[in-house]
Amino acid sequence: MEKTYIMLKPDAMKRGLVGEIISRIEKKGYTISRIETKVLTAEVLKEHYAHIADRPFFPDLVNYMTSGPVVAMIVEGPDVILGMRILMGATKFEEATPGTIRGDYAYCTTENLIHGSDSAETAAAEIKRFFGC
Ligand code: PPS
Repeated sequence: MEKTYIMLKPDAMKRGLVGEIISRIEKKGYTISRIETKVLTAEVLKEHYAHIADRPFFPDLVNYMTSGPVVAMIVEGPDVILGMRILMGATKFEEATPGTIRGDYAYCTTENLIHGSDSAETAAAEIKRFFGC
C-alpha cells in the first residue's frame, strides 16, 4: 500500500471546501490515516518549496501558505501518489480539467487548494517533514 502527503491549502479552509475535498478523496477509495490542522512557518515552507525558491512567485506563495491553517494528511491506497495527482488536477488552474478538484474549484494558480507529493521520494520526505514518521 502506497502513502502520499496531501495538504489542503489555506484557501480550502477559507472557502469551506475541506469537507468537499476530503469527501472526494474518500469516495475515490483512499484511506486518510493521519490528519491534522497546522499553521506553517516560513521556515518549513522554504524547506518544502526549496526546489522553486528562485521563482518569481515564491514570496507570494510563502505569504499565502502562512495566511491561515492548512490540513495536513497522510493518504494511503494502491498507486495513491499518481491517483491523487489525477484527482487534484493540473497545477496551473487554466490547465486543470473539470471533474478534478482544481478544475472544479481553483480560479488561480497560487491559490490552488491542494498539494500532493509528486513521487515516492518526495512523499517519504514530506511525510517525515510534516508528521515526523
Ligand atoms: S514547477 O517548477 O513549476 O514545475 O514546480 P512545481 O513542482 O509544479 O511546484 C510549483 C508550486 O508552486 C505553486 N505555485 C505556482 N506554480 C506555478 N506558477 C505560479 N504562478 C505559482 N504560484 C504558486 C504551485 O501550486 C506548486 O505548489 P504545490 O504545493 O506543489 O502544488
